[in-house]
Amino acid sequence: MLRELALHILDLVENSLNAGATLVTIEVIEDEKKDQLVIRVSDNGRGMDAETVQRATDPFFTTRTTRRVGLGLPFLKQATELCNGNLKIDSCLGKGTTVTATFQHSHINRMPLGDLPNTILTLVVGNPQADFVYRHVYNERVFEFDTRPLKATLDDVPLSEPSVIEYLRREIADSLAQIYGL
Ligand SMILES: Nc1ncnc2c1ncn2[C@@H]1O[C@H](COP(=O)(O)OP(=O)(O)OP(=O)(O)O)[C@@H](O)[C@H]1O
Ligand SMILES: [Mg+2]
Repeated sequence: MLRELALHILDLVENSLNAGATLVTIEVIEDEKKDQLVIRVSDNGRGMDAETVQRATDPFFTTRTTRRVGLGLPFLKQATELCNGNLKIDSCLGKGTTVTATFQHSHINRMPLGDLPNTILTLVVGNPQADFVYRHVYNERVFEFDTRPLKATLDDVPLSEPSVIEYLRREIADSLAQIYGL
């Protein structure tokens, strides 16, 4: 079992990138009034037909060829169900996929979110061909990070430039602390 939700997010985004996505949106929505945590990853990749969606949460189904079982989605589904939640997959062939994992926020079995700033940075820096939107909602407060305007501003400076990475790490961590009211 993965012990941090950030690792599940990495896994979901890996699926999106493997499906050829050029834009991946990662949403983390924490609503303490509803006692709900939603993690949603949407992509513009190749999508799945209805049968593939049906089978995607079966641990013995995978389209990967290097290993026989795919465990990403079944694990996440199990993790949600242990927290009064569920996993929903919406997909459209040729258009993209949205995976939504819902948890009871306060549930004793609910994994911590983990290191989101580093997870997002790893994805952004490691996949310069793709764009990412990271939207984090904590009750009424919202933080949104979009690589598209960032890349336009940076112009020729690559995202992998150490000073850029450091700046982004601080920026994301500070913004998260702010929406958490820290
Ligand atoms: N975003 C997506 N777009 C298109 N197909 C997807 C997407 N996410 C999952 N799939 C399909 O569902 C299958 C199962 O995904 P899952 O993450 O459970 O396992 P995997 O990626 O095959 O293996 P693992 O995650 O263990 O490396 C994938 O092989 C792929 O065919
Ligand atoms: Mg996977």
